[in-house]
Amino acid sequence: MPDQHTVLFVCLGNICRSPLAHGIFQHLVDQSNFTNQFHIDSCGTGDWHVGNPPDPRSIQIASIYGIDITTQRARQFDPATDVERFTHIIPMDASNKKNLIKLGVPEPKLTLMRAYDPTLKTPQDVPDPYYGGDDGFERVYKMLTRACDGLLVNLMN
Ligand code: 4NP
Repeated sequence: MPDQHTVLFVCLGNICRSPLAHGIFQHLVDQSNFTNQFHIDSCGTGDWHVGNPPDPRSIQIASIYGIDITTQRARQFDPATDVERFTHIIPMDASNKKNLIKLGVPEPKLTLMRAYDPTLKTPQDVPDPYYGGDDGFERVYKMLTRACDGLLVNLMN
């Protein structure tokens, strides 16, 4: 479908933050009856977890809010195909963004996830919750929800 919005969420491992962003944004788009107008995916810049399901803590926090991310599988960003396939490539933090620029993503396609959070004046990183406790996932979930709301408003206006 030529008029689809194509959105790719990117983090480091593609098991904690970007699968959650993917699940939250897909849920929001579906609830708004915009499903046919979007193609949404996520990936990581690293390859350590390729083929794995999301981290159990991301699965759990999503399920608390009625979102099922269990069928997602981690994949690595592919410069040969992803740059062309996606118009909006959305890194979770400044380090992911730097890596994507090194991999050849043109800057106009790149926007930090929290740049879409209307409550922030300057975008901040979505912190990596991998090595922290479970409360990190709750915080990240809330940050991602605000940014996903802002992203949908941005794309549909
Ligand atoms: P993510 O978190 O980038 O949000 O998926 C991480 C998961 C795993 C690793 C780093 C970050 N790791 O080093 O294995």
